[in-house]
Amino acid sequence: MTDSPESLLAERIAAIPTVSVAKVPTPLDEAPRAAAALGIERLWIKRDDLTGLAFGGNKARKLRYELAPAVAERADVLIAGGGVSQSNHARQCAAAAAQLGMRCVLVLRNGPRGGARQGNVLLDDLLGADLRLLETESPDETLAEMDRLADELRSAGRRPFVVELEGLSVVAYVECALEIWRQLRALDTTATHVFVASDGGTQAGLLVGSDILETGWVVVAVRPHPTDGDPRDIAFEQARLGSKLLDLPVEIPREAILNLQDFIAPGYGVVSDAGRDAIHMLARTEGVLLDPVYTAKAFAALTAWANAGRLGHDSRVVFVHTGGLPALFAYADELVE
Ligand SMILES: Cc1ncc(COP(=O)(O)O)c(C=O)c1O
Repeated sequence: MTDSPESLLAERIAAIPTVSVAKVPTPLDEAPRAAAALGIERLWIKRDDLTGLAFGGNKARKLRYELAPAVAERADVLIAGGGVSQSNHARQCAAAAAQLGMRCVLVLRNGPRGGARQGNVLLDDLLGADLRLLETESPDETLAEMDRLADELRSAGRRPFVVELEGLSVVAYVECALEIWRQLRALDTTATHVFVASDGGTQAGLLVGSDILETGWVVVAVRPHPTDGDPRDIAFEQARLGSKLLDLPVEIPREAILNLQDFIAPGYGVVSDAGRDAIHMLARTEGVLLDPVYTAKAFAALTAWANAGRLGHDSRVVFVHTGGLPALFAYADELVE
């Protein structure tokens, strides 16, 4: 008997070590009132805002894989970096460290909302993370500081582990694609489109999973950050890495990657009018909250596609909710009408 693509994929994913820091599988909730408002046949929300680690998000799912080597190496300090603005990654690392009995040092660089003790930054503090604020906006300088701190801690006899989300974590969203596929099948249906807020990492996993399972989904990623380069680069490279890690014969052609830059304005970490409307719409039709920095802009893209007729009335769309909700509280003034 030959393995089906589904069992092959499940087998390969299961062979990769994890730590149980995330609550998965997450629910796939139907959103009929929002679907009607958008004029599409069906809409589901993949609730990765419910993954745990202090208010959920895609990073918890990724840390399940990314922290397995940290536990295997018996690390005692996690070092993570991000934007002081509202880093969901940093906050979920702080929660994971606490849950795993490790210390956490967060190197947070300056950016929009630097210094405001609200949202994610407030949670970092409550979770006991050691916050180091860097007066730079450069990711490279942030990384250099993380490496310097790791050396310092090593010299002091500690076992630090620097968390980067560009390795094993791509497998996390291959697994998410498999979950969605199975959840839709249990409902005796399929999807035409998957929308997600992503610079490329989360998208890459969804693309690889979708390709192996031959889902036929159009995966539409909506970038939160602008780039001077080709917006498809991260998804392309990460998809390659994911296929390699899982030893799967997948080649996602660069031309097939949809990574939209059109919904970032007025800028990364700045609320857009369409994003604010999306937050209100989904909250009021379905009681589901979006965050202003990532998911609201992705949902604004979904809305724009529906309004422009790019999603037909027969479209069946999965919106992957990647979390980010603590930031709502840091943006209160811009969000109320
Ligand atoms: C809430 C939220 N959504 C989406 C993303 C994008 O994730 P990725 O870059 O893995 O695609 C992030 C990353 O910071 C995030 O915090």
